[in-house]
Amino acid sequence: MRARLEAPPNILHQPVLVNEVLDLLVIKSGGNYVDGTLGAGGHTAAILNRAGLNSRILGIDRDPDALNWSKKTLIDFKNQITLVSGKFSEIATICDEYSFNNISGVLLDLGLSSMQIERSNRGFSFMRNEALDMRMNPNSELTAEEIINNWEPAELVRIISTYGEERNAKKITRQIIKNRPITTTGELVRTIETAVGSLSTKQRQKHPATKTFQALRITVNDELAELKQVLHTTLELLSKTSQTSGDNSRLAIISFHSLEDRIVKSFFRYESSSCVCSKRLPICTCEHNPTLKELTRKPIVASQEEVNQNPRARSARLRVAEILPKASPK
Ligand SMILES: C[S@@+](CC[C@H](N)C(=O)[O-])C[C@H]1O[C@@H](n2cnc3c(N)ncnc32)[C@H](O)[C@@H]1O
Repeated sequence: MRARLEAPPNILHQPVLVNEVLDLLVIKSGGNYVDGTLGAGGHTAAILNRAGLNSRILGIDRDPDALNWSKKTLIDFKNQITLVSGKFSEIATICDEYSFNNISGVLLDLGLSSMQIERSNRGFSFMRNEALDMRMNPNSELTAEEIINNWEPAELVRIISTYGEERNAKKITRQIIKNRPITTTGELVRTIETAVGSLSTKQRQKHPATKTFQALRITVNDELAELKQVLHTTLELLSKTSQTSGDNSRLAIISFHSLEDRIVKSFFRYESSSCVCSKRLPICTCEHNPTLKELTRKPIVASQEEVNQNPRARSARLRVAEILPKASPK
């Protein structure tokens, strides 16, 4: 242990599954890593601490505030970090621009940081009364207010049921249309409660606004498309390193809800298979070469001890894969 790792006092975010990430991602000293979701820099600090003085990290975050928060956490590592404002789907272009090559591993810790939820004033939480915004990057165009007040009812039903997995999507949409204009999270919460009832959280497993808020956040930030894109781009990027160095690079992803985890799981399953033919075909004709090896067939979850200490860890799921060098066609 060579550097201070506890978060500075004004940094609320506690990174999840830190030891599990380190054990599977950092398997040697030194090396170049990309943290595609820098946040408050907690995972970045832990990786640099484990990988030692010869390691470097390129940290990316689409929220410009995250770069300032992480600078505080990463004060002891300033010669080893490059911090970039951008989307993780742009990982290849960013690495190219900063001549960041020979990457040993990439980490994506999806979702929001505690500072975004509790301090950003951008309406991410149904527990606070704030403007209906939900943009991770305040310079991007689409806001939750625009969606709630201007999108067609059919589109609202589609996103609330698809991205929120909310079975009351039609009821909620009807009430939203009735109550328009809605400009704050408080008004939206009351609208949802009018539509589906406001049973206490003890009576329900979850607050009645949880799923609609998840749907809006995913839509505003185009989160699932970002995830699909980064999986493909990172595979391509890391297969180059695995090709040129003797060591295979690794990709670690922490997701927080089933839509994200399903995307990661099916990507890993597909890319690790040696045959992707339809099950109805009697023989394999696909000539598919596996491009990665899953290191976690089942996702790793937080211990009860970690959940007691950091309740946000309850829904975290970690999947890790080793990227194989590109094989010549079969
Ligand atoms: C859960 S936090 C990461 C916390 C970080 N691991 C730590 O230890 O402090 C997720 C971060 O990823 C960022 N983020 C989410 N989606 C992104 C994307 N598509 N591109 C870049 N950053 C993204 C968010 O702005 C947020 O700061």
